[in-house]
Amino acid sequence: LKGMGLGAAALSVSSGGSAEAAMDAEQTTPGKAIGSPRTRVEGRDKVSGKARYTADLEVDRLVHGAMVTATIARGRITAIDTSATLASPGVIGVIDHRNAPRLNPKAGTPFFGPDGQLQLLQDNLIVNGGWPVALVVAQTPEQARAGAEQLRVSYVEQPPDIAFSPDHPALRPALPTFGPDANKGDLDAELARSAVVVDERYTTPAQQSCAMEPHVATVWLENGAVRASDSNQAPYGVAASLATLFDKPLAEVRVQVEQVGGGFGSKTGVGPQLILATMAAMVFRRPVRVQLSREEVFLTTSSRPRTDQRVRLGADRDGRLRAIGHEAAFEISGKAEFIENCVEIAKTLYAADAIRTRINVVPLNILPVASVRAPGTAPGSFALESAMDELAERLLMDPLELRKRNEPEVGPVSGLPFTSRNFHRCLSEGARRFGWAGRDHRPRRRREGGLLIGTGMAGTSFFTSAFPSSATITAERDGTFTVSIAAIDIGTGARTALQAIAADALHVGWDRIRLKIGDSAIGPAWQAGGSLGTTSWGWAIVAAAADLREKLASGPPLPVSVTSDTTEAITSRPHRERHSYSAIFAEVAVDPATGEVRVRRLVGRFAVGRVVNPLMVRSQLVGGMIMGLSIALQEEIVRDEVTGRHVNADFAGYHFAANADVPFIDADFVDDHEPDDPLGMKGPGEIGVVAVAAAIANAVWHATGKRQRDLPIRLDRVV
Ligand code: MOS
Repeated sequence: LKGMGLGAAALSVSSGGSAEAAMDAEQTTPGKAIGSPRTRVEGRDKVSGKARYTADLEVDRLVHGAMVTATIARGRITAIDTSATLASPGVIGVIDHRNAPRLNPKAGTPFFGPDGQLQLLQDNLIVNGGWPVALVVAQTPEQARAGAEQLRVSYVEQPPDIAFSPDHPALRPALPTFGPDANKGDLDAELARSAVVVDERYTTPAQQSCAMEPHVATVWLENGAVRASDSNQAPYGVAASLATLFDKPLAEVRVQVEQVGGGFGSKTGVGPQLILATMAAMVFRRPVRVQLSREEVFLTTSSRPRTDQRVRLGADRDGRLRAIGHEAAFEISGKAEFIENCVEIAKTLYAADAIRTRINVVPLNILPVASVRAPGTAPGSFALESAMDELAERLLMDPLELRKRNEPEVGPVSGLPFTSRNFHRCLSEGARRFGWAGRDHRPRRRREGGLLIGTGMAGTSFFTSAFPSSATITAERDGTFTVSIAAIDIGTGARTALQAIAADALHVGWDRIRLKIGDSAIGPAWQAGGSLGTTSWGWAIVAAAADLREKLASGPPLPVSVTSDTTEAITSRPHRERHSYSAIFAEVAVDPATGEVRVRRLVGRFAVGRVVNPLMVRSQLVGGMIMGLSIALQEEIVRDEVTGRHVNADFAGYHFAANADVPFIDADFVDDHEPDDPLGMKGPGEIGVVAVAAAIANAVWHATGKRQRDLPIRLDRVV
């Protein structure tokens, strides 16, 4: 639902002409667009097949590239025999490390610096299984694939190291990019003074984003400049990185995209499809399309790292927390830094006298790790919120009450004020809707026939902010407004949301807004990522609209344009604790004979600031909760311990929820408003994913009496 927007699209088709016309009329009233549950502006195009994705674009003289990936996980290439490939029908040529254009080794990401993951076909070294070693270009995709299968690559193989453990000798601190470790108070002293202590380890597996649309790019050259259509979450950021990578001025690189079929983190940066297609366009002087197969998405894009987390909690008899210790280790590739910031919520969610966090990495021979659906907080909340449930068990206390007793007045580590903190409200409203009151907190008390029934809950905070962006608005002669921003709609409904924001900011009906997005040439803008697309783009649109209205007051001749830049406004804000919040409640039925866990009910209550479009935000939260369910019960990348190869690189082997796995989901908002955002918004994008795994694991304990400290909660871990 989140990826493709099918929920809302289906609604727009079934809602019938008259209801839709009435809704449209209401929304053309100035000042009424924000808060209205309007269906997606492109919904009809999506369900009727008119919407154009990158692989749908027709391009003259287009040729196709197919990847060849390493069959070893560590070693080096000793020879590449292209003769059979070059003799294969339709094949135009082969690019490998011997003839590929040279790339700028300093290219990287703003957060993590130079990124070796981008350095494709630059040398003969292999440090992870599935690493791209060549691109075969042919007249048709089938001919390229057939040619790729005939490429003979010889290797010298070395044993790969994929054995992740917090005791690995290569363990070292993660980059401090997202802030230093917490070192509040004396953790050991407070644990010693505590009446009840929890000290447990939790593990989570590698996972992948699994967007419905595989990564795809089409690249051509225009007077030496690079033009690309690429499925990504950040047209401006991707163009800027691509320019650095190929040593070109940004003015000579333009990345556009109309529709994107989901990203979930995997399309925030420059993907292998775009790098290889750009190389091929330069080498063969033809427009080139590279579309990854599903297996190649698994092998060559990015994944969420495995984590191993130790949580220590200490509390008085009445449940007041004295100590929170959260130490996390996660795996990375030796090629690229990343921070799976598992310990973030330990710094913000609960008050305690002592709070200590540590976060370490273990470099291994694995696919580079990067953003996947609520990076850090999804695995981190599983550990912290499972430990809170274990603490409630040992205190013989209601786990909901335990959380309410530890509400902080200010940031527990930072000491900074909260802007708007509505965690309590999420807990109370969620509990009421779920029917939590009267729960027997002891495990293994409820049975229905042969099934064990249990309930569980968990909560989270989620960082919210806005990133500098720019928007241009033109007041046209015909009374319409052209609003241009290098935003992107990855299926979430961003187009529809931004149109509403622009309409209200300009005090006109939404039918007078022409929105232009998905083009790096428009100017700097944040990505559809970090749950901060709409807050970042919305701010830029509001700023431009205010300037434009001032300019129009004097009645100048049209057209008139203004361009905003929110850098100063955003960076000069006072430091405060800004977060979204959620509370999740789950009911499960467990078959003790087979270990099968069925989730029967999921209730989520969310404080996500002002809601621009309740239909879409609810859809996104429900989609997130389904991902949380998948993380709890199903998702797991499995690597062969001998070869280091990813053995379930497809949707047959990598499981996630299908419709029959998903119960009725009740997601709703509590009243919330972010005072530090010009529209009162917080990012609702990813918080739905978080806290669901802990709520389900806690419910499985309540049903069975057996703790689930390792995800996913497979059958063999239940029986
Ligand atoms: Mo999201 S994982 O920040 O695209």
